[in-house]
Amino acid sequence: MTKAIGIDAGGTLTKLAYVNEFGELVLEHFPSNDLHAVTEWISKQPEIEEIGITGGRAEQVKDLLKSVKSIHYIVEFEATLKGVRYQLMQEGHQFDRSIITNVGTGTSIHYMDGETHSRVGGTGIGGGTLVGLAALTTGIYNYNDIIKQAQSGERQEMDLLVQDIYQGMDTPISGTLTASNFGKMGIDQTKNHPTENILATVQGLVGEVITTLSIQLAEQNQVEHIIYIGTTLNENEALKKIIANYTKLKKKTPIFLNDHGFSGAIGALLNIAANQNK
Ligand SMILES: Nc1ncnc2c1ncn2[C@@H]1O[C@H](COP(=O)(O)OP(=O)(O)OP(=O)(O)O)[C@@H](O)[C@H]1O
Ligand SMILES: [Mg+2]
Repeated sequence: MTKAIGIDAGGTLTKLAYVNEFGELVLEHFPSNDLHAVTEWISKQPEIEEIGITGGRAEQVKDLLKSVKSIHYIVEFEATLKGVRYQLMQEGHQFDRSIITNVGTGTSIHYMDGETHSRVGGTGIGGGTLVGLAALTTGIYNYNDIIKQAQSGERQEMDLLVQDIYQGMDTPISGTLTASNFGKMGIDQTKNHPTENILATVQGLVGEVITTLSIQLAEQNQVEHIIYIGTTLNENEALKKIIANYTKLKKKTPIFLNDHGFSGAIGALLNIAANQNK
């Protein structure tokens, strides 16, 4: 019997977390532009008595859930931290201090120190940008189609590397780093580029901006680990590789959690129990 459920209603996706009758954690997501699908799903589970809820669309979902007796709201960043701490413990990680980079529709970056946290930065470049720029440049709107095609694309005909600028000279930093994302496009405008290359380059831009900012904030706060979460990483090996390689190059340790999209929903679920124990 599912008595309690955690909900993270985000800008793009609404995530649910609950423990089923076999004691297993079940995770699901729905598009946030179809909140009625979420409430319909919940109305079909009459045994649900308590809901923990977070995210920017929480108030909208709450309004649609009038029949549920007990709704516990938790601020998004608190829920995310609770969820991340639980996931770190489950996966056997030992460190206490870290940067948490949540690549959602936009990207929000936090400094975690044990049970406390503070927001240290963020950028409007996120999963929404990946889908938005991909749609604008190729006409492909579906996230899964975008990442599948990006996987087989190449970036060297579009991105300008440091070594492309420093021709015949020693480079001041590694020559294979990106000097300018899409920088070759303004120099040679005659070429037609395959869709998968455009998508790979969009993904490179998003991944590198997020990672650059995360590394700088890790340096500022003198931490080694950067935990990258958010549904933008879903099935997205190419994006994870961009993030991981650049993070390691800068001598930081990237961490990808198993259920990286569900930290907020898991945190909202855990918060119900925390409230009951008060
Ligand atoms: N099935 C899917 N449908 C839409 N987007 C998806 C899907 N799977 C992965 N994504 C990617 O995940 C991103 C949303 O990630 P996430 O669910 O973490 O954000 P959110 O919580 O909705 O947003 P925010 O936290 O900024 O309010 C999308 O922008 C897209 O890049
Ligand atoms: Mg979110």
